[in-house]
Amino acid sequence: MALVFSESTQRRVSATVKLYPERQAALLPVLHIAQREFGQLSPEVIDLVSRTLELPESHVYGVVTFYTMFHQEKHGRHELLVCTNVSCMLKGGYEILAHLERRLGIKAGQTTPDGMFTLIEEECLAACADAPMMICGDEYHLRLDAASVDRVIDRLRTLPAKEIA
Ligand code: FES
Repeated sequence: MALVFSESTQRRVSATVKLYPERQAALLPVLHIAQREFGQLSPEVIDLVSRTLELPESHVYGVVTFYTMFHQEKHGRHELLVCTNVSCMLKGGYEILAHLERRLGIKAGQTTPDGMFTLIEEECLAACADAPMMICGDEYHLRLDAASVDRVIDRLRTLPAKEIA
């Protein structure tokens, strides 16, 4: 049986589609909604979005694979996006990434076995003046060093699931 959105998500998708002159133009927000609902944009979810917006699957797949904020596999509860582009690299971005890899016991692109964290190396995240930096959910963490990274990780570990955006 083909995948469907939950009732509440379907209402949200329908309301989002109405904001655009053509339903196909709602692709990016609908992908965000779908990723939040299913935790990933698997082939089944891509098929669902494709049917919902009357777009070819190949088009949806192309968009999903273009933007780094979309992922086809399950990610952890917290995504840590660490910038290693020029400004961050010059201010220790690679050291921050290496520290997180040691601390979490995973490499960039992987998820911790407990499903808590996914670590992602990113290009410029538009906070160059406050390098090195990382994004977690809706939070920007700026001018990082090993100690401040540890504080972020410790706090995230203590958050109950309902407080996670
Ligand atoms: S280079 Fe890291 S935020 Fe721009």
